[in-house]
Amino acid sequence: MARRGNSIIRGIEISEIISVLNKAYADEWLAYYQYFIEAKVIKGIMKDAAIAELTQHATDELRHANMVADRILQLGGTPLLNPKEWFTHTNCGYEEPKDFDVVSILEDSIKGEQCAISIYSQLVDMTRDKDIVTYDIVSEILADEVEHEEDLQALHDDITEFVQSLKNKL
Ligand SMILES: [Fe+2]
Ligand SMILES: [Fe+2]
Repeated sequence: MARRGNSIIRGIEISEIISVLNKAYADEWLAYYQYFIEAKVIKGIMKDAAIAELTQHATDELRHANMVADRILQLGGTPLLNPKEWFTHTNCGYEEPKDFDVVSILEDSIKGEQCAISIYSQLVDMTRDKDIVTYDIVSEILADEVEHEEDLQALHDDITEFVQSLKNKL
């Protein structure tokens, strides 16, 4: 635990920061797995472009899990040790893919990113001017989640427009 580093935290309980970070940690692992499995089962038009995007996002979510785990340890906490706890701590839950069509998979993923944006936005507000190190980490992750939503939405719109133009030609 970073004793001096933690002594600069003001106006917020360290135990509370550890608790909310563990919830975000659960979300990141579940998001990682959701992207991992979506990239495996996805079907349909332009799926290769979607697989590339989903695989990149999986890598980013795992990197986020790493960042959050390291910060929990710095604060003197323990990251969730058992995957069962991901389901009891998660904010955003886990949506197993039911329809493997590319558009449906992208819509599920966009919902997940929108939840992540809301959660990290709350964490940014909670830590601002109180815990600068956690604030920097959650701000960086928030920017990634905003980019994820944008990338998925752009791909979703390209695919739906393409499908529409094909239908119009029939
Ligand atoms: Fe993430
Ligand atoms: Fe994300």
